[in-house]
Amino acid sequence: MAFETITVETRGNVGVITLDRPEALNALNAALIGELATAVRRFEADTAIGAVVITGSEKAFAAGADIKEMADKTYPQAMLDDFIGGDWQAVGQARKPIIAAVSGYALGGGCELAMSCDFILASENARFGLPEITLGVIPGAGGTQRLVRAVGKAKAMEMILTGRFMAAEEAERAGLVSRIIPDAELEDEAVKVGQKIADMSLPAVILAKSAVDRSFEMTLEEGMRYERDVFYSLFATEDQKEGMAAFVEKRQARFRDR
Ligand code: CAA
Repeated sequence: MAFETITVETRGNVGVITLDRPEALNALNAALIGELATAVRRFEADTAIGAVVITGSEKAFAAGADIKEMADKTYPQAMLDDFIGGDWQAVGQARKPIIAAVSGYALGGGCELAMSCDFILASENARFGLPEITLGVIPGAGGTQRLVRAVGKAKAMEMILTGRFMAAEEAERAGLVSRIIPDAELEDEAVKVGQKIADMSLPAVILAKSAVDRSFEMTLEEGMRYERDVFYSLFATEDQKEGMAAFVEKRQARFRDR
């Protein structure tokens, strides 16, 4: 299937999805969200892929949900169609790691999409914001939940109530992004990080991601127990034997995802 609002390629063992609606600063309309979900699910099913990068253009990762598409919706339409459900959740539900490589605007649903990835690498010109309040609504794709977990209540509340944007440096300081990369190197660096993850044992990667995500949903005690059970379960994999043997033999491990 040819895509119209995204481009999709494979670099090594990394799937790269580029949002591509330049005329609308990659605003997330139903077509784009549907294609994005399809591409993510294909990479999930592809055994050669160990990580995925989602990126946009230099000017915009994504400037939010498509305002023109939703402006005339009525409450029953919005609620019954559940238009931020379904495909909007595909990235957050993925088991393989997904890295957001953010340049330019990541606003509203664009910021929420980036936050639903496992971590964000930002270029120097990245700007994050949840300006839904200026449109008379509130974030609808996880913004009120994920931003507060990322940067704490004070900053999240200020941004959500005023619509203020946050530049890359502030976002890094606040813990929203893991690292800032020079603009021209962003995609290559994201793919390099993705390849590094893809070289690890995929069962261990998936379970590590799951354990970190559970920390937001469980008590410390429950989370510690879950982590320990998962840790023990990895001794059933060939990759654990290979990884530890490689350390002892002072050589590079060759994981086979078994
Ligand atoms: N939806 C639809 N179209 C959008 C858009 C969006 N979210 N953001 C930008 N565009 C369009 C503009 O309408 C414009 O199209 P035209 O040339 O046809 O008029 C084109 O993209 C370029 O945008 P601007 O001319 O506005 O570019 P700028 O450089 O002057 O400003 C900007 C850039 C500050 C990002 C500005 O475009 C902007 O404020 N965009 C909207 C941001 C926003 O409010 N996002 C939240 C959306 S609601 C949401 O996401 C809900 C949710 O939680 C799921």
